Amino acid sequence: MKKVVLISGVSSGFGKQIANLLSENGHIVYGTVRKDILSPGNVNVLKMDLMDHVSIKRAVDTVLEKEGKIDVLINNAGMHTVVLLRMLLLNILNFRWIPTYLE
Ligand SMILES: NC(=O)c1ccc[n+]([C@@H]2O[C@H](COP(=O)([O-])OP(=O)(O)OC[C@H]3O[C@@H](n4cnc5c(N)ncnc54)[C@H](OP(=O)(O)O)[C@@H]3O)[C@@H](O)[C@H]2O)c1
Repeated sequence: MKKVVLISGVSSGFGKQIANLLSENGHIVYGTVRKDILSPGNVNVLKMDLMDHVSIKRAVDTVLEKEGKIDVLINNAGMHTVVLLRMLLLNILNFRWIPTYLE
């Protein structure tokens, strides 16, 4: 049975793969992205950033307006902890080294 699916973060990784798979299997798929990208397959692309509540509400409202319901919500968007740790470490290193470099 055809489902209305909303997946966050379909620009890459798991989100992109799941969105493609579900749309290929005949489901109505909406996927969110932060930057403008070409729609993966038959996925309906919506702009949304997890840090922006207004954009989240806008994305959900768009699906509800067009489809009248959301059967499946896949909260995929996010950053892997290893990536976060790497960014944190790089920031710490930059803060320590930039003043030394400028001296
Ligand atoms: N890969 C793993 O081994 C692993 C393990 C455990 C959990 N996870 C979780 O599984 C999910 C997908 O992982 P992945 O490896 O497929 O990651 P990925 O390839 O980096 O994809 C992450 C997706 O989330 C989007 N995203 C990140 N921050 C966002 C934000 N603030 N607002 C809106 N979208 C945002 C990215 O959009 P942009 O292209 O705009 O950045 C991208 O589409 C993540 O939540 C991750 O934490 C992954």
